[in-house]
Amino acid sequence: MIRREFNNLFGLGLLATSLPVAIAACNPSETASDAPADTAAEAPEVKIDETPRADGFAALGTVADLDANGYLGKKSFIAGPVIVIRDPANAESLIALNSMCTHQGCGVEWEDNAFACPCHGSKFSTDGSVTDGPATEPLDPYEVMIDGDLVLVKVS
Ligand code: FES
Repeated sequence: MIRREFNNLFGLGLLATSLPVAIAACNPSETASDAPADTAAEAPEVKIDETPRADGFAALGTVADLDANGYLGKKSFIAGPVIVIRDPANAESLIALNSMCTHQGCGVEWEDNAFACPCHGSKFSTDGSVTDGPATEPLDPYEVMIDGDLVLVKVS
């Protein structure tokens, strides 16, 4: 066997034996299964069906997410931008408001027991009325309810 034949056979043998190891190392599913389980970070996202029901309510999210985050909000909800919280005065009751600031249309956020607009500082009380300008008009309310595990908002 001459040197060139030996090198070709040795190179092929090396490639054939190392290829399966290299493929396995690059396979993301095997890498993920080796990782420690983090059920909170990898919990499957719950798909919410927003199709309006016969009573005019549509699901916005889950009660679990409402309680975990302190609010539920969606700019592209079927009825329009909405934010839902538990009433600070009565946790059994929910409050749902149009989340589009009446000043210039930014999305209001729930913080420190008030709806606050991050753009120019307007604040709104839990009934939607303006407590700090520059906004002058209140946020419109939505009807809201809990049905089972879901938070439902009236869309029609
Ligand atoms: Fe909200 Fe201006 S858009 S205060």
